[in-house]
Amino acid sequence: MFHSKDLSLTPMKSFAGTSCGVNRPIYTVKSSIKGRDQTTTSVTSRPLFFTMKWHGFSCSKSAGLTRSRSLSVSSTAEKKGQTPSRGVPVSKGAKSSHNILEVFNESKNSKVKGTVVLMKKNVLDFNDFHASFLDRLHEFLGQKVSLQLISAVNGDPENGLQGKLGEPAYLEDWITTITPLTAGESAFKVTFDWDNEMEVPGAILIRNNHHSEFYLNSITLEDVPGQGRIHFPCNSWVYPADKYKKDRIFFSNKTYLPSETPTPLRKYRDEELVNLRGDGKGELKEWDRVYDYAYYNDLGNPDKGPEHVRPVLGGSSEYPYPRRGRTGRPPTETDRNTESRLNPLLSINIYVPRDERFGHLKMSDFVAYALKGIAQFLKPELEDAFSNNEFESLEDILKLYEGGIKVPSGLLENIRKNIPAEMLKEIFRTDGEELLKYPVPQVIKEDSSAWKTDEEFAREMLAGVNPVTICRLQEFPPTSKLDSKVYGYQTSAITKEHIEKYLNGLSIDEAIKSNKLFILDHHDTLMPYLSRINKTSTKIYASRTILFLNEDGTLKPLAIELSLPHPDGDQFGAISKVYTPAEEGVQNFIWQLAKSYVVVNDSGYHQLMSHWLNTHAAIEPFVIATNRQLSVLHPIYKLLHPHFRDTMNVNALARQVLINANGALESTVFPRKYSMEMSSKVYKNWVFPEQALPADLVKRGMAVKDVNSPHGLRLLIEDYPYAVDGLEIWSAIKTWVEDYCSFYYKTDDMVRDDSELQYWWKELREEGHGDKKDEPWWPKMQTREELIETCTTIIWIASALHAAINFGQYPYGGYPPNRPAMSRHFMPEEGTSDYEELKSHPEKALLKIFTSQFESVLGISLVEILSRHSSDEIFLGQRDSLDWTSDTEPIEAFKRFGKNLKEVEDRITKRNKDEKLKNRVGPVKMPYTLLCPTSEEGLTFKGIPNSVSI
Ligand SMILES: [Fe+2]
Repeated sequence: MFHSKDLSLTPMKSFAGTSCGVNRPIYTVKSSIKGRDQTTTSVTSRPLFFTMKWHGFSCSKSAGLTRSRSLSVSSTAEKKGQTPSRGVPVSKGAKSSHNILEVFNESKNSKVKGTVVLMKKNVLDFNDFHASFLDRLHEFLGQKVSLQLISAVNGDPENGLQGKLGEPAYLEDWITTITPLTAGESAFKVTFDWDNEMEVPGAILIRNNHHSEFYLNSITLEDVPGQGRIHFPCNSWVYPADKYKKDRIFFSNKTYLPSETPTPLRKYRDEELVNLRGDGKGELKEWDRVYDYAYYNDLGNPDKGPEHVRPVLGGSSEYPYPRRGRTGRPPTETDRNTESRLNPLLSINIYVPRDERFGHLKMSDFVAYALKGIAQFLKPELEDAFSNNEFESLEDILKLYEGGIKVPSGLLENIRKNIPAEMLKEIFRTDGEELLKYPVPQVIKEDSSAWKTDEEFAREMLAGVNPVTICRLQEFPPTSKLDSKVYGYQTSAITKEHIEKYLNGLSIDEAIKSNKLFILDHHDTLMPYLSRINKTSTKIYASRTILFLNEDGTLKPLAIELSLPHPDGDQFGAISKVYTPAEEGVQNFIWQLAKSYVVVNDSGYHQLMSHWLNTHAAIEPFVIATNRQLSVLHPIYKLLHPHFRDTMNVNALARQVLINANGALESTVFPRKYSMEMSSKVYKNWVFPEQALPADLVKRGMAVKDVNSPHGLRLLIEDYPYAVDGLEIWSAIKTWVEDYCSFYYKTDDMVRDDSELQYWWKELREEGHGDKKDEPWWPKMQTREELIETCTTIIWIASALHAAINFGQYPYGGYPPNRPAMSRHFMPEEGTSDYEELKSHPEKALLKIFTSQFESVLGISLVEILSRHSSDEIFLGQRDSLDWTSDTEPIEAFKRFGKNLKEVEDRITKRNKDEKLKNRVGPVKMPYTLLCPTSEEGLTFKGIPNSVSI
């Protein structure tokens, strides 16, 4: 089963320290490679290290090189005059897609050796972080962990022709010399008795008779007769056997469409999916691996009183929502439709399928602690200490980054008691003493006041943290889609007189026709909620901002409309006021305030819709459906799986401490307790195909289709950094997905006939995004093109879209005056004391409206954690192992993908140095790097992780 190209991929370094295979039997191999490659080759080699290009030598290690004999080729099949076969039965009519290799084993090899890589327990368990886990590894030896090979060729007639089971083998020596292991991993030897009827091991059954769980990374068989090396990627927690109904099964890294699965493995494949789907009943436990769906009925806590009640999101036309992972916790006492919440002390142990949990490495768990710490300890402490405090000046805020701000002594005591000391400094920017100190956000690093300029205000709509909302203005005045029977007259109050003087001599019609006018429109989303929101401590408007495209490619804001519902009732329409730019005096301060009200709208929309709803929440049903319906052997599972890493866990954690009733989000985002409910209203307009970047740009009028332009689109603002970089990333993903899918699906029929794929897509639409199941726009999944576009869109959302929206949070928003998320007072009116204060102390007035000390410090703490890359981040174009598939063409295509992304990164760097592209750096001198694919650890303002993991 070798492919000639496989050989170059055999990671020699993985075996550094082992014997290099020089004393092992020599095989003579003739391979006839067919299937997708349609090439044939003939080689002589050794079974373990296939140095086929270097005929005669089995490995490059200088000591003990053995010259292999060049033998004439003979295979059992040829001897019998049979046609060589791929060694595993395929279904009738299925195309052989794998290589054929015939092997004559000269030796009587009755043992097959393997290496098992595992991690004993969660090394991230901070309770015994310093305890050595290595010294007790011997506990795994003896008959504690059994492994049985399963044949992919021969079925057992007594077991329904399921693949024949080999004799159990057990972990033997603990290998201390193997080098390329990650910290915490350990390797063990295992030796299987070889039964010739096994032929090709396609899976391994594992039983853990030990009393505690371990994380099984992989199993590699090193010299399987006729096969050589076979790798079994596992990446799973294996609990003691009594926790499972069946022993755990792990398949090799072969890829099969359902109909191409070797018959002996089919039942195992199906049973594992049944297992992962669960029975829909009961509370799920830590060790469970069940993926199932639930509504968002776990945000409120009615048992604590009416203030803690929140509507159930999902399952109704009033509050549609994507599904979340089911936990099966019992209902609350007060409301049987609401799921009870976990005791806060257990809050990071919320159920997600076991292998979705953070915890493979230190940094991810750190994040969990950090979020928990902020929400559970820092929030109430800060509230007590700061809720009546105000910043006096912008200088006061800068102290957060320079000297740190003093907090009353004793305040951090509670935090100290609950958070491991080694993390205190990292999470809370304090050594537990008196100061909270944060890193300087990039937006004020080079120039502490450039954020105030109109140019920067507009530029951040193209290159900021929310560059996905601005639209081209195509009608004037802007109208509303709100129901006029309920909301009255909602057409914009901005008139020609407000803006025509700024249009460089153009009329409004001419400016619209020449694609010069743009709008940031938060009117319709907010207006229906304003009456309710403004009854809380928030005082906010719905806003529309009109912008003009200058000759130099920058945008200039021309007018801001701030609207409130009519005081006599929503049905009487909006009361609006229009503000235009002013350079001097109190009018200039008023204009600054108007811009800040717009940013508050945009910050809330960003956090709730662009970020939470459109990436975190929208992707979770794909994670669930993929694990329930696509086997790990399925090519589309292998394509998508890296893009789901940690998503269910971070979302579960968010439901526990961030987006829940009275959680950190409600404290820092202006819609307060209506936050999540509003996101459900916005989900009503969610359209899956429009999440694809090209479709999104066209929909917002920011681009038009043009076959002569790169990516088939012409951007109407050429220097639109998010779109320019994003289209390059989109195209790179699409090319990769096209190459990959085309390898497995040669025709549209193969897409239609793929039973797992069809069930996957049906369930995703009807369950995962079930409130949208009747939408006409869902791809039908009948063609390769639909499959490719769908997978590209999923990967885009999980990787680049989320990165563009997420990792700029601290760089832009870590300085609250630039991205205020809350407003506490309305615009000062002439004749009031507030207006007089604005004239005399404009900074103080601004801070009084937008920046409370408590909310600022909480918000900064939160976005700082959310904007960091952990040390174990895996970026787009990377995988955690080279062995994720045994198919060579996809591996080669994946390498090209990585190379493409590197080139994109180089071009981004080059564009950022081009002074003609004014929107890339802006007055704040902050080059747009959010879509650079790679990054170092930390707060870097760049890097596209594969998945929504923070
Ligand atoms: Fe995020």
